[in-house]
Amino acid sequence: MRASSAILALPALASAQQIPFLDQVKGWFGQASETVSSAVTSASASVASMSIPNPVASGAAAVADLKVERLTLDNYRRILKHGAGATPGIEEWMIMVTGGNTTCFGFCERAEIAWNQSVALIAASRSPPHLAMLDCETDPILCSAWAMSPPTVVHIELPQPLPDQSTPATTVRSFALNRTTVTSPEIAAIHLQEKYKEVQPYEGFWHPFDGPLAKNNLSVPAGYAVHYFSKIPSWAFMIAVSFLSRNMM
Ligand SMILES: *[C@@H]1O[C@H](CO)[C@@H](O)[C@H](O)[C@H]1NC(C)=O
Ligand SMILES: *[C@@H]1O[C@H](CO)[C@@H](O)[C@H](O)[C@H]1NC(C)=O
Ligand SMILES: *[C@@H]1O[C@H](CO)[C@@H](O)[C@H](O)[C@H]1NC(C)=O
Ligand SMILES: *[C@@H]1O[C@H](CO)[C@@H](O)[C@H](O)[C@H]1NC(C)=O
Repeated sequence: MRASSAILALPALASAQQIPFLDQVKGWFGQASETVSSAVTSASASVASMSIPNPVASGAAAVADLKVERLTLDNYRRILKHGAGATPGIEEWMIMVTGGNTTCFGFCERAEIAWNQSVALIAASRSPPHLAMLDCETDPILCSAWAMSPPTVVHIELPQPLPDQSTPATTVRSFALNRTTVTSPEIAAIHLQEKYKEVQPYEGFWHPFDGPLAKNNLSVPAGYAVHYFSKIPSWAFMIAVSFLSRNMM
C-alpha cells in the first residue's frame, strides 16, 4: 500500500503545486492587466511623443546589439548566470516563454510576434535587460521544471554573487500574456515603465533559483517527472494503480 500511495502522491503533488502557481500568476495578471492596459495606451502615446526613445531614431546599432539568447536544458545554467565584474549589481533579464502546436495549442504566434517587435523598443532603453527565449515545444522539460505555461514573460533580477560565492535571493516575476490581445508596447512596458515593480515576486516551490527543488538540484528531474506523467493517459494510470493495489492486497 505504501508504494502505491507514494506513486499516487507524486503527480498529485506536481499538479497541486503547479496549479496554484499558475492561478497565482493569473491573479497577478488580473491585477496587472488594468495597469498594463493603461500602460499600453500611455506606452503608445509616449512612443509617439518620444518619451520612450524611438528605436528607429536611436539607431539600428542598438537594435542589432541586443541579443536574444535561446534557452535550453543544456545551456540555461550557463546563460542565466551573473556576469560578475562586467556588470556589478543586479542583472536584469526578460525571458519570453513561448510554445507551439502541442504546448500552446498554436496560439502563441501573436505573443511571439509582439515579443519580437518589443525587442526593438527595449533595445532603445538606456539600460536594456538581457533577453532570452524559451520554447516549450523544443524544451518541454525546462518549461515543466519551472512550471511555466506559454505565452509568459518572466522577469528576473539576478543578484551579483557574494565574495564567499554564495548567491543572494533571485527575484522572479511572471507575466502571463493574453494570447489574443497582447501588444509589443505592453511587453516593453514591463521594463521601460518598470511595470514589473507592480507585480509581487514569486516565492514558491517551483522558484527556478531559490525554490526547494532548485536548491537541491531537483528541478530538472521534477521537470521530467511532470512531463512524462502528463503524457500518461489517465486510463493507463488508473489501470496501473488498480493493478498495483490489487497485488499489494
Ligand atoms: C501547427 O498546426 C497548424 C494547423 O493545424 C499547421 O498548419 C502547422 O503546420 C502546424 N505547425 C507545426 C510546426 O507542426
Ligand atoms: C521571433 O524571433 C525569433 C528569433 O529571435 C525567431 O526564431 C522566431 O521565428 C520569431 N517568431 C515569429 C513569430 O516571428
Ligand atoms: C484576453 O483579452 C480578451 C479581451 O480583452 C478577454 O476577453 C479574454 O478573457 C482575455 N483572456 C485572458 C486569458 O485573460
Ligand atoms: C547542485 O549542483 C551543483 C553543481 O552541479 C553543486 O555544486 C551543488 O553542491 C549541488 N547541490 C546539492 C544540494 O546537491
